[in-house]
Amino acid sequence: MTDPAGRPARKPSHPPAPLRVVALSGALRAHNMTRRALEVALRGAASEGAQTELLDLSAMEIPFCDERPDESTYPPDVQRLRGAVAAAHGILLGSPEYHGSMSGALKNALDLLGFEQFEGKMVGLVAVAGGSQSATGTLAHMRTVCRHLHAWVAPRQVSISRAKDAFGADGHLKDPDHEERLLELGREVAHYARLHFGLQKDAAPS
Ligand SMILES: Cc1cc2nc3c(=O)[nH]c(=O)nc-3n(C[C@H](O)[C@H](O)[C@H](O)COP(=O)(O)O)c2cc1C
Repeated sequence: MTDPAGRPARKPSHPPAPLRVVALSGALRAHNMTRRALEVALRGAASEGAQTELLDLSAMEIPFCDERPDESTYPPDVQRLRGAVAAAHGILLGSPEYHGSMSGALKNALDLLGFEQFEGKMVGLVAVAGGSQSATGTLAHMRTVCRHLHAWVAPRQVSISRAKDAFGADGHLKDPDHEERLLELGREVAHYARLHFGLQKDAAPS
């Protein structure tokens, strides 16, 4: 059996308690807003009792997925990425809007991941656009990729437009509605991830 990429099919991960939610930030720009938005969503997940981790692709050495026969030759960050996502029950994906879609960095990271990391997992989507229009195209593309990865994508999603004006100096979003939507997305991913994996609410994060 092989996966759609022709790699030997691996079983989907079934991580043990405690509840874990990771966020994958697909922005490489210095001082980007995508990471900041995900930090807010992770606060929401933590308020539901999840242990949280942010994986920032701008701080990792992630080469292009090239279907190399010997995957052990990928840099250690690829294994770190795969391991951290496999160990999570819920996943938050964040991307800047680039030409109406997700960043190449995020898509490439997703290409390096597969069913082992995503199948049966809860996923929440966040997109950040420089322009005034909502990043719904980007979110739709992210949703399509997650469907191919057999993930459960939360119907709720968050789009932040005019990104450069969206955050105040204190790191909070100027619009309390944006802040609340991100918190709620994080709470929702954690809540349904807990239900999907049958984890107890009182399994406190360590
Ligand atoms: C290659 C490229 C394409 C972009 N395409 C769009 C776009 O289609 N729509 C838009 O609103 N902004 C677009 N932008 C602006 C980014 O969405 C904006 O810089 C955003 O803040 C990036 O998120 P970040 O703060 O997380 O880096 C584009 C920027 C780049 C570099």
